[in-house]
Amino acid sequence: MSEPTYTFRLATPDDAEALQAIYAPYVETSITFELEAPSVEEFRRRIEERICIYPYIVVEEDGVPMGYAYASRLFSRAAYDWAVELSVYLSRDCRGRGLGRALYTRMLTLLEMQGIRSAHGKVTEPNEASDKLHLSMGFRRVGFMDNVGFKLGKWRDVGHYEKLIGDFDSAPDPVIPITKLDPAKVEKVLREGA
Ligand SMILES: CC(C)(COP(=O)(O)OP(=O)(O)OC[C@H]1O[C@@H](n2cnc3c(N)ncnc32)[C@H](O)[C@@H]1OP(=O)(O)O)[C@@H](O)C(=O)NCCC(=O)NCCS
Repeated sequence: MSEPTYTFRLATPDDAEALQAIYAPYVETSITFELEAPSVEEFRRRIEERICIYPYIVVEEDGVPMGYAYASRLFSRAAYDWAVELSVYLSRDCRGRGLGRALYTRMLTLLEMQGIRSAHGKVTEPNEASDKLHLSMGFRRVGFMDNVGFKLGKWRDVGHYEKLIGDFDSAPDPVIPITKLDPAKVEKVLREGA
């Protein structure tokens, strides 16, 4: 059998149905703190909101979405403009094939092009795959929140990972929305990974 071919592209609102289907099974676990799966309409609304500013990357196998990663604001106050939180979900049988790493590699390169200075991940423990993904991508665990959520009958702990991007020697320029980056350069990153 031939090796699957994976391609990476930016999400559109029309991906809502496929991506909601990837995400929904994880709502039945403690990996996400959401208690009910969002509807496809709600998922579409979330995609629309995010793609104006941040990368939202879909990985496809032979044209079928198998996973995605997106960035969103870490916190709402203005001085946090340069800090994002990452989310990444793969279809269950596509885990452990390097796709998490491939999505994060592209994501971090695009964030750097935008002028983002730090990327953060919050991982409900235990989640060895996510811990390993973050550590292997150069994130460092900067915090651990004990019993910060209650889901599926248990208090849950969350690890906080951070990766600094770029330099901190001077005041930053405003973040460039993903929609304002050179499309050819974005395409190259999605194709080649860096
Ligand atoms: C977490 C997730 C995105 C990781 O992506 P992935 O494609 O499975 O991981 P990769 O194959 O890219 O592996 C990345 C690293 O983690 C390690 N890893 C992956 N799965 C692992 C597992 N189950 N146990 C231990 N290590 C694991 C790999 O060996 C690799 O390490 P290396 O770079 O040192 O070789 C994916 O497993 C997933 O979608 N899980 C369910 C949803 C989820 O947990 N999302 C994150 C919420 S915080």
